[in-house]
Order: sequence, then C-alpha cells, then structure tokens
Amino acid sequence: MARYELVKRSVALITLTNPPVNALSSAVRHAMAKSMEQALNDPKVTAVVICGENGRFCGGADIREFAGPLRGPPLVPLLDAIEAGEKPVVAAIEGVALGGGFELALVCHYCIAHFKARLGLPEVTLGILPAAGGTQRLPRLIGIPAALELITTGRHISAQEALKLGIVDQVTEQNACEVAVEFALRAVAKPLSSRRVSMLTTPCPPDLDALLEVVTMEVKKKARGVMAPLACIQAVRAAATMPYSKGIKRESELMATLFNSGQARALQYCFFAQRTAGKWTLPSGAQWNNSKPREIRSAAIIGLGTMGRGIVVSLARAGISVIAVESEKKLLETGKQMVIGMLERDAKRRGVSASLNLLKFTLSLQDLKDVDLVIEAVFEDMALKKRVFQELSKVCRPATLLCTNTSGLDVDALAGVTDRPHLVVGMHFFSPAHVMKLLEVVCGPRSSSETIATAMSLGKRMGKVSVAVGNCPGFVGNRMLKPYLDQATFLLEEGATPEQIDKALEDFGFAMGVFRMSDLAGLDVGWRIRKESGLTGPDVDPKNPPRRRHGRRYCPIPDMVCEQGRFGQKTGRGWYMYDKPGGTNAKPDPLIQNLLEMYRSRYAIQPRNISDKEIIERCLFALANEGFRILEDGIAARPEDIDVIYLFGYGFPRHRGGPMFYASMVGLERVLERLEHYHQAHPDVPHLEPSPLLKKLVACGSPSVQTWREHIKTMHSHL
Ligand code: CAA
Ligand code: NAI
Repeated sequence: MARYELVKRSVALITLTNPPVNALSSAVRHAMAKSMEQALNDPKVTAVVICGENGRFCGGADIREFAGPLRGPPLVPLLDAIEAGEKPVVAAIEGVALGGGFELALVCHYCIAHFKARLGLPEVTLGILPAAGGTQRLPRLIGIPAALELITTGRHISAQEALKLGIVDQVTEQNACEVAVEFALRAVAKPLSSRRVSMLTTPCPPDLDALLEVVTMEVKKKARGVMAPLACIQAVRAAATMPYSKGIKRESELMATLFNSGQARALQYCFFAQRTAGKWTLPSGAQWNNSKPREIRSAAIIGLGTMGRGIVVSLARAGISVIAVESEKKLLETGKQMVIGMLERDAKRRGVSASLNLLKFTLSLQDLKDVDLVIEAVFEDMALKKRVFQELSKVCRPATLLCTNTSGLDVDALAGVTDRPHLVVGMHFFSPAHVMKLLEVVCGPRSSSETIATAMSLGKRMGKVSVAVGNCPGFVGNRMLKPYLDQATFLLEEGATPEQIDKALEDFGFAMGVFRMSDLAGLDVGWRIRKESGLTGPDVDPKNPPRRRHGRRYCPIPDMVCEQGRFGQKTGRGWYMYDKPGGTNAKPDPLIQNLLEMYRSRYAIQPRNISDKEIIERCLFALANEGFRILEDGIAARPEDIDVIYLFGYGFPRHRGGPMFYASMVGLERVLERLEHYHQAHPDVPHLEPSPLLKKLVACGSPSVQTWREHIKTMHSHL
C-alpha cells in the first residue's frame, strides 16, 4: 500500500501502491502513517519524497469506502503531521493529484510535477468538499478568487497552470520522482516555516463579501439546488476569516452535513454508474473485456444535416479521416462550410489546429468503398434508410461496419436489407452531436460482439459516454421520454400552465423544463412523426373520440400549437413567445393561455390547482416506470445504464442520480403507491400502471439499486 525505500543514502522514498489510481484507502493511510513515522524517526533520513506507483501520484480518497464507517487513521491528522515535520517533504506528481491526493501535495513542503500531470479538487462533483484541509490551505496558497474557482468547480488544471498559480515549484519533462529526490537533497538545509501552508495568512481581498456574493449567485444559477458548491464557499470564507485551527473545524462540520446528504450519495453513484455503463455483456457471454474492437482509421457520414455535421466534427477531432456525403451540391457546400466553421471554432477554443486535412466531401456513395465504417444520418424515414443501406451493402467492402444514427427505428430491419447484418449497429448520437457526451450503441439481435465492441470503443475515442442498449422503438432514452412528455401535456389539460410545469422541473434540478426543452428542439419534428403514425392530421380514424387514440388517452394540444405555425424557438413562438425567431428568452404567451382555456371549455374540463409535487411525481414516476419496463424487457442491462443515459443525454440533474436512482431514493414502495394512485385516477393512461418489476422489487423489500440486476429475470435479453 506504501513502499518505503532509502535512496541516495538519506532520502526516504515513499511510493503509494494501490492500483489503479493509488487511492487513499484505509490501508494506504495506515501504511503512509507508518512510513512517515519511520522517515521522521530515522536519523539517516534528511528528506522525504512521496510519489505514486505506475506514473500516478494519487486519485484521492477511496470513494468506495465512503459507503461504510471510517476505518484506519483519519487523513487530516496524518497530513497535519507531514506538514509539521522537521524534515523537508517533496511531492513528486505524475499522472494525477486529485482530491485527497492534491491535499497531500499541499502539505508537502515542495511539489515537483511532471508536465503531463493534472491536479484538482473534484470533491464538489461527488457532493462533498475537500475536507482534508484543502479548503483551508489552497486559499492561503493562491488567494481566495483562484481557490474559489478551483474548489467550487472541481476543474482539473495542468501542471503548467499549477506552476503559474504557485501550487507547484517546478514542472519537469523528466521522471518527476528522480527530479524530486535531487530537489529534496538541495532542500535539506533550508528553513521550512514559510513552506507550511497552514501557517500562512490568507491573502484577503478588501471586497471579500461582495466577491463571495457574486460567486454564490453564479453557483446557484449554474447548479440549481446543489448543496456542495455553496458549502465550499462557506469553507473558503472560513479560510479568509478564521485561523487555520478554527477553519479546519468549520470545514469538517460542513463536510459532515454534505457527507450524509442524499446529494452526495447520488453524485457518488453517478461516478461509478458512468464507469459501469461501458461494461456491456451479451447473453452469449461476449462482453467488454473479451471482445476485441476493430481499429477504425476512416469513416463516412451520410447526410450533413443537424446530426451529420456534429458527428463529422466528433470523428475528425478524434483523428479519424472522414468522407461526408450529401444528396445535392448546394446542401453539400452548406454542410461543408458549417463543418469547417465548427471544427475551426472548436480547435481555437482548445488551442490546437483544426484537422481539416482529414475531411473529404462528396455527392457519390461510390467514394465509400474503402472506408472502415459508415454512419448514416439521413432523414428519419425507414424507406430512405433502407435504400441507403442496400446501396452501401453494394458499394462498401465486405468488412465495412454499417451504422445508423436513427433515433428510434428498427436497427434490425436495416440490418436485414444488407449483405452483412452482423456488421450493422445503431450509433445514436444526441444533438448537438459534437457537444453531447451520450452515445447509445443499439445492438440488434444480429450485431456481432466485434461490431458492438467497435462502436463502443469508437464512442470512447470520441470522448463519448457509450451505453449499449437493445433494439426497440425509441431504444432507451426516447422510449422513456414519451410517458414523461405525455404526463406534462395531460397536466396542461387538467389545469397547469407550461411555465408552472417547467418551473417545478427546473426547481427539481433540470436545466430546462419540458416545454422550454421542446421549444429548443423544435415542435414540428414530433408533430411530423405523429402525423405519419396517424395520431393526428387527415389520417386519423374519424371513429376515434377526440382525446383518445388506440383506446388510450391522447392530448392533442401539441398538435394544435403546431397547427398555428408555432414550432418553438426557431419560429419565435412555441409553448412560449420569444423576441424573434431563434431568440432564447422565453416569455409566457397569453395566446397559449387562451388556447388552453378554450380547449378546456370545449371539452368541459374543470381546471384544478395542481401542486408542484403532483407535477414531479407524475412526470418522473412515469419516466422511471418505463425504465423498469425497459429493464424487464432486457433493453437496458442495468439501472445504472438508464441513469447514465438520462444524465448525459437528457439533462437529468446529476445530484438526483438519474431516474432509477431517484426512484430508489424516494423509496420504491412510495413510488409504487403513487403510481397506483395516479393510475386509478387515470385508468386510460397505461404508462401509469406500475410495472411488474417495480412490484417485484417492492415485494423483495426494495433492495438497493446496485442489486436490482439480480432480481431482473428477463424472458430473453436483447443485450
Ligand atoms: N476511489 C476509488 N476508486 C477509484 C477512484 C477513487 N478515488 N478513482 C478511480 N477509481 C476507480 C474507478 O472506479 C475505476 O474502477 P473500475 O476499473 O473498477 O471501473 C478505476 O479506478 C479506473 O478509473 P477510470 O476508469 O476513471 O480511469 P481514468 O484513467 O479514465 O481516470 C481518474 C482516472 C482521473 C483518476 C478518474 O478515475 C477520477 O477522476 N477519479 C476520481 C478522482 C476523485 O474524485 N478524487 C477525489 C476523491 S474524494 C477525496 O479525495 C476526499 C478527500 O478530501 C479525502
Ligand atoms: P436533418 O434533416 O437535419 O439532416 C438530414 C440530412 O440528410 C439532410 O441534409 C439531407 O439532405 C441528407 N440526406 C437525405 N437523404 C440523403 C441521401 N440519400 N444521401 C445523402 N444525404 C441525404 O436531420 P437530422 O436531424 O440530422 O437527423 C438525421 C438522423 O439523425 C435521423 O435519423 C434522426 O432521427 C436522427 N437523430 C436526430 C436527432 C436530432 O436531434 N435532430 C438526434 C438523434 C438522432
């Protein structure tokens, strides 16, 4: 857990050895305490160097241990003792120094960092704060404004930035450990008092209160309802206004409040869920760690519309050469200019050069014969997509993977028209594709494990969070969206307004309520789909009662909004009104209010007062209920996968953990009881009928979300 060696006859080299990130588990803390004691007591030792095995200094506390009671020596006294020691201690940072690892570096009297190292205090992203003195030492070392920024955002910084801020003393391209040993030898005779950061006075700006106020407002705006950044600000205030001994107590009190909050549990769950989601398994036994992905050097995108452009940018940014295909010259030229502009802006922002030499634009599918992989992103039209796949099947070499970005059509039906159904897979990106991190990899029944592995690995290479899902209408994300949207419009019928529903969802933590989000995405897309599927427009069966389709409740208000040419932000009118087409400042529109009133009086609906609680329960429990059905059907393998999809694709608030984790936090019994209640009140809404899996889990005593998998007995898994 920590290796102790004497090097250069007088330097104690302590190496943290807890792969993969040398986290400060109880065993590591114990070993470190012992090694430090040995170093400080051995008269031969004149200086100490602390480093981490395998080129990684330390990834911080062992997050897995947060779930249980504290074991082993606590970190704060251990770090205080290192700082107070009379022998110089040098941190040799390679790889990462994060969280407790960064705090360990802060108590060392000197820091040497490898030029590729990254440092940061990401605790806030786990719902806690840097409680091993980080909130007290960092402001003393780099000042309040810079410390506030790092602590409240959890941003990782480069070694160069750390040098500029005064966090590290030297950046090296050599082996940091060897440089640190030489440095330590030179430091032996130097006084240490000025190197003990806790003894420094915090440089305090004259307008401290005003500064803290501004940061508080910013944090509240960015992370609505999230506790940890606010507690971080309070802890930093303590560093500015209290001596270290009192500040560290304040830090610890704030930590205790956060540590026991549901938000910390949710955020820590998200950390592990994100890492679990990449670990896919098929019923055949093929899985992430026994299936080899193919190497992808070249790709092609068909269709340079909203999605195609973003996908081209994502691929080029990952160093893959891309051929982009359009159907007409003018569209090709427009798409090309847009892609180039996007790539140039992106490169400028990241301080690198745009990889324009990787791009080729064409009108001919014949140019695709040698590419390794194709992603189709033409209109959402099955007949068109089938034609494209048939053509690709003829043109591309037999080993080329054929992928579709369809947002909900049958991937297997597309596979069926090709000569290589095993090489067909869905790669469902989210808009805008070069920004959104989620990728649903849709596994058809005939997709081979190599094909799935390749799509998952390509997603990772593009910086996406890839989740393998089964093939059904809407897959996971869009399938679950339907009951959520339905509940929102039913609530409108019953008496709520778009702004009331949005406010309740935004207060819950969504960046945007459902109606503002729909205005942003464009209302015409869903309207076209509803018309094509005969739910509205001239093809509706006249025998249908007005607010029912296929024997279920149907709300025609979204269709009525579209019939007025209100397609959302792009037309300047939607559920809200905007200053101009393309405007983003949403204001409640009296015309929508009138439309709702007329609608209710036409159908003799007596509007009632609807509470925020009902809005949240109906929208989110219906969402989670569909998630349970998806698990039952084997379309998603784990609740973690569903949660990751909602966190990264649909803006579900991270501090709530995702819809399935949220349901578990509310209590499955309570979710079941509320769904039964709402279903009784609305028997014509099947989405409110509790799923058998939810009932089964409640009958099993509502086990923790991490163990649901054991209770999911699917008839046949689609994964
Ligand atoms: N504790 C426990 N496990 C950790 C961990 C930690 N601090 N950091 C990473 N891991 C685990 C991951 O869960 C993963 O496990 P599996 O292989 O079983 O999935 C494995 O280590 C590798 O992690 P990644 O897949 O994330 O590897 P990466 O190379 O992509 O990234 C990393 C490495 C940048 C260190 C990243 O893992 C990371 O950001 N870790 C968390 C860092 C962090 O938040 N530290 C603060 C902890 S809280 C704290 O320190 C409080 C305090 O004040 C004492
Ligand atoms: P879009 O309408 O913006 O772009 C489609 C493009 O395909 C157009 O530029 C069109 O000219 C081109 N095209 C049509 N037929 C072609 C052909 N035979 N050869 C070459 N190009 C052709 O559509 P969008 O929004 O980009 O959607 C594309 C696909 O991505 C659809 O399947 C959609 O369901 C899916 N999708 C869309 C999302 C969105 O938010 N817009 C999100 C996720 C998936």
